[in-house]
Amino acid sequence: MLFLDSSNPAEIRELFSWGVLAGVTTNPLILAREAPDADLEARIREVIAASSGPVSVELVAETAEEMLEEAHALHAWDPSRICVKVPFGEAGLKVTHALARAGVKTNVTCVMSFNQAYLAALAGGTYVSIFSGRIRDMGYDARGVIEQTRERLDRERLPAEVLVGSIRHIADVNEALFAGAHVVTVPPPILRKMLHNPKTDETIREFNAAWANRGK
Ligand code: E4P
Repeated sequence: MLFLDSSNPAEIRELFSWGVLAGVTTNPLILAREAPDADLEARIREVIAASSGPVSVELVAETAEEMLEEAHALHAWDPSRICVKVPFGEAGLKVTHALARAGVKTNVTCVMSFNQAYLAALAGGTYVSIFSGRIRDMGYDARGVIEQTRERLDRERLPAEVLVGSIRHIADVNEALFAGAHVVTVPPPILRKMLHNPKTDETIREFNAAWANRGK
């Protein structure tokens, strides 16, 4: 399954029209870049209107108590669509656990290792976001983290889903899917690159030219 890693409503609407996307992920960096002056609630409501499926919105508070308060405020914007993105850590686990008990969907984010992914799933995260590109930035193997996490979730029948983000190349999407990701969240430029293959373009040109020149 594919989600879109974006907070740009126009781009989200356009790419959802392809029929291949099932949700949206945002984060504070994406929102700061794409919508520096926007009101967060208004922007997220536009993102929700432009898409379908869960829309992840990340907490920026730092204590468990403040995070929980922020989470409930975000969730109230649209309880059926908002998925609260919880940064991984001690406070994050507490918040994930409390939100799971309250029936609020969570996306535990910034996960860089199997150990963290396992804890996030045990705490009741709906999605566990493994950051492929950033794991590789540290010189580690992202594929192993994804495979081991999926294998453990299946073995223990934990309901969490493996969501892979921090995608930099088309090959990262393929690798994550083959390694067992339930979902890959793809930046718009990478999704557009996934369309292209020079042999496809050449073949379509050949077919259309043959049709245009038929009988000549
Ligand atoms: C995932 O949900 C994150 O938004 C995202 O993929 C972060 O990755 P990056 O900051 O390394 O691009």
